[in-house]
Amino acid sequence: MEHFQSTIVSTSPQETFDLGKKLGQTLRGGEIICLYGDLGAGKTVFAKGLGKGLGVEAEITSPTFTLIQEYECSTKGLQFIHIDLYRLAYPEEAEIIGVRDYFRDDCVCLLEWPEIIEDLLPPDHLQIKIEGSGDSPRVISFAPASRVQHFFEQ
Ligand SMILES: Nc1ncnc2c1ncn2[C@@H]1O[C@H](COP(=O)(O)OP(=O)(O)O)[C@@H](O)[C@H]1O
Ligand SMILES: [Mg+2]
Repeated sequence: MEHFQSTIVSTSPQETFDLGKKLGQTLRGGEIICLYGDLGAGKTVFAKGLGKGLGVEAEITSPTFTLIQEYECSTKGLQFIHIDLYRLAYPEEAEIIGVRDYFRDDCVCLLEWPEIIEDLLPPDHLQIKIEGSGDSPRVISFAPASRVQHFFEQ
């Protein structure tokens, strides 16, 4: 895992959502965002905000059972690809379901439980770690990839 450079504390689901939304607003396509954190940390809450920031109008639901959910972001002409690899046992399964087909400039990919395909990821991806559970504040850390460096320089 990369060295995490910036850290933000979120004290509510709304704050985590808003942080995802703010990041989503800055994305241009081609970004791969890996979300680390235990069950219930808030990865899906963050993903919902990110989709909102990208301009997704459809309701964003957890892809835990579908593994991959595709959404249109009409304003940006992009697709938001929300992936959850929790149920995979082997990296080969990620290849079979075609995760890498979405690593394109017209898609923004967000992966929950990305650990299993770390070796298949392009080096220029953004890593975000969410720590905390229950009603406690979440510590959200970022290891910026060069593609999203502008987000951290605002
Ligand atoms: N600061 C916070 N940020 C995000 N979620 C929070 C926070 N505080 C409490 N929660 C709750 O934690 C849960 C996170 O769920 P979810 O996003 O589905 O987790 P994950 O996808 O990481 O398994 C939600 O029920 C949410 O309301
Ligand atoms: Mg989730």
